[in-house]
Amino acid sequence: MNDAPYSIKGFDHCELYVGNAKQTAYYYNTTMGFKTVAYRGLETGCRDRVSYVLNQGRIFLVVTSPLEKNTEIGDHIDRHGDGIKDVAFTVDNAEEAWSASLGRGAKSALEPTEIKDGNGEAVISSIHTFGDTIHTFIERNNYKGSFLPGYKVHQPKIDSEMLGLIHIDHIVGNQPDGEMQTICDFYEKVFGWHRFWTVDDKDITTEYSSLRSIVMANENEIVKMPINEPAEGLKKSQIQEFIDYYETAGVQHLALSTKDIIHSVEIMRNNGVEFLPTPDSYYDNLIDRVGEIDEDIEKLKKFGILVDNDENGYMLQIFTKPLQDRPTLFFEIIQRKGSNSFGKGNFKALFESIEREQEKRGNL
Ligand code: FE2
Repeated sequence: MNDAPYSIKGFDHCELYVGNAKQTAYYYNTTMGFKTVAYRGLETGCRDRVSYVLNQGRIFLVVTSPLEKNTEIGDHIDRHGDGIKDVAFTVDNAEEAWSASLGRGAKSALEPTEIKDGNGEAVISSIHTFGDTIHTFIERNNYKGSFLPGYKVHQPKIDSEMLGLIHIDHIVGNQPDGEMQTICDFYEKVFGWHRFWTVDDKDITTEYSSLRSIVMANENEIVKMPINEPAEGLKKSQIQEFIDYYETAGVQHLALSTKDIIHSVEIMRNNGVEFLPTPDSYYDNLIDRVGEIDEDIEKLKKFGILVDNDENGYMLQIFTKPLQDRPTLFFEIIQRKGSNSFGKGNFKALFESIEREQEKRGNL
């Protein structure tokens, strides 16, 4: 195993390139309990793009749209639809992180750059990872503003109902067939991460869908990135459907943690977020499979929340349907009660549900 060349302290934020940042921000405000805490655009002197910074717990999402034609942002949207451009990490030293990564084989996307405003300063740098996705290293030096220099505090006009979402549990990257190991090797070589958990196609095969997945984790296992690739099945894998619509590798889902999944999901559903349905039969032998749990099974069944366990405890999870027009990015809501599982026991029920949705889209 490679040693980590420097410490990645955690996920800092994710930046999405979207067709209409104003309306995307409103969607996250009104359906998922995110508050807009910072903004940059024409009013702040930013002429070529507009960004809204959405926050809940320790989760930060930035949604960005171009303000002119022929931009890198516009090209990204044209090729991929709305999607995640940047999975940013918090580091102590963005210059060191960048140069160490380049020394270990990464390609630069942005040289270390100091940015300043009246609230202090920060240093940012970026490297390329899978597809058109990048990792930005964020170093804040006593920065007192709400996000980063250049952004202004935003006074939310929308009274977002908090869902109790806490932090990013993991972020998943989908790869084309045959590229999963190469990308995992990249994370091992560049960041010194290790293989935390693996499933192969023998574990995850329904009648049609099949995938392989390796969860890459940093030293202290705070940062986890499962890397998927499609496997041969009778019909099209859900991972292949993602690749077809995203046109390349990209971020498939963000898993957001909560302390009370029933509460979070109930609010999201009332606000109009669509989740993948779970068949009632899933709950028939639930206790036999996972043992006693604290939650009311009737409520889990009502909302379609899945449960899985391992030797350390159990976890509850549910997946939204894609949040944009293309069947690409979606969210997972997860509550861990001791378990570090990635839901292997749920894959069959979950995949059958995804396949029913794929069939409706004519993509199975
Ligand atoms: Fe997940």
